[in-house]
Amino acid sequence: MKHNPFRKRTGILPSYFTGRENELNELKETYNSTKHGVPGHLILYGPKGIGKTSLLLKFQKEISNLDEVYPVRIPLMEGNFDDIYSLIIEKCSDTLNINISHFWEKINSLGINIPLIGGLSFSRKIPKTSPAVAFEKILNIIYDELDSDNPVLILLFDDLQRIMGNDETMKILSILQNALVELNLKGKNIMFVATGSEDIFYKIQDKLDSAVRIFEPYLIGPLSYEELCEAINVPIKEQNVSFDEEVLQEIYELSSGIPYYMQILAYSCFEEINKDNKVTMDEFKRASIHSLNILAQREFKVLFSKSTTEERKILCLMAESDETLLSYTYIKDNANLNSEPSALLKSLVNKNMIIKPSRGKYQLKNNLFKLYLKNLRINQDTGLLNQY
Ligand SMILES: Nc1ncnc2c1ncn2[C@@H]1O[C@H](COP(=O)(O)OP(=O)(O)OP(=O)(O)O)[C@@H](O)[C@H]1O
Ligand SMILES: [Mg+2]
Repeated sequence: MKHNPFRKRTGILPSYFTGRENELNELKETYNSTKHGVPGHLILYGPKGIGKTSLLLKFQKEISNLDEVYPVRIPLMEGNFDDIYSLIIEKCSDTLNINISHFWEKINSLGINIPLIGGLSFSRKIPKTSPAVAFEKILNIIYDELDSDNPVLILLFDDLQRIMGNDETMKILSILQNALVELNLKGKNIMFVATGSEDIFYKIQDKLDSAVRIFEPYLIGPLSYEELCEAINVPIKEQNVSFDEEVLQEIYELSSGIPYYMQILAYSCFEEINKDNKVTMDEFKRASIHSLNILAQREFKVLFSKSTTEERKILCLMAESDETLLSYTYIKDNANLNSEPSALLKSLVNKNMIIKPSRGKYQLKNNLFKLYLKNLRINQDTGLLNQY
């Protein structure tokens, strides 16, 4: 039995990590500069499945070989500031092997109310401090626990957008900025890296603009064709399997270079290997249906169910078109709508079904979603699904 080397889900390191040299260099340079007293802070952002978590994991792994560096990855969850403090403390004590009870004692004496697992919480006599001060004190205590001469503490916050929906915690970046600037001034070398969804930087800039100037935005883009081929060819070669060049091109085309989709397609192809240990276009066709089923269950069905019949006429027009990009005028003239398309297009963009890469131009969110819609056979005139 061959072991499938590809991943069906997000949030895990691939068996073979491809590309991302520029991103890793940027992270390492930021680390170097932090080590020499000029701390840097990054926000890596990009669409779902582009490889944000994997990049953090890879960087954490690579940097861990160096002396005096303490990287801690903190996967964020919805919650208030107290929840974020607990998360930071627990992850740091786990990763850095710091005795937690000793830690809690110190933090408790700061007057910060941190609920413990099980609902217990320390009584606090001192009034609650502001979040910026709380972050500063907590990070200060953690930093002072690191036992080397010139340690670099690297905080890796994964999925910042999860706490940006909340009115209280959406100010996290300006609060963290205050805390980090204070700590950095005191000679504590702390580097902060966060990942976030594609729109996060615009959301932040809208609300706070210059308040977040210490965080450098870095957009994570799709893989190139060569990088994608490497990610597939290296692990299958080890198992004496090969994919036809045409198959690799199709995977590139359908996935648009997004690692998550590439992994699902490659996973499905691997399941279909023929008796010669190859994947040709015949196997690929079955694999692409299998991939669509995985994605339909996970996201496309729910996504599609949120569209109205009028919106479905637009989705159908886009799915059936040979062009990727359609103009506003083309949609208006050809979608057989009962009204102007503006409001419908806006709503489709908001629901994350289509994207608007430039003014007056629209396209479906990705090629796999396009293929999914095509297979649904929506009736262009009524916006309803055709019965077989
Ligand atoms: N550089 C890479 N080479 C090969 N595979 C990769 C690479 N980066 C990510 N992947 C794979 O792609 C999938 C998605 O990656 P990851 O979970 O890191 O994306 P993400 O941007 O964090 O996704 P999400 O938006 O869901 O948080 C995973 O299966 C991962 O193993
Ligand atoms: Mg992730």
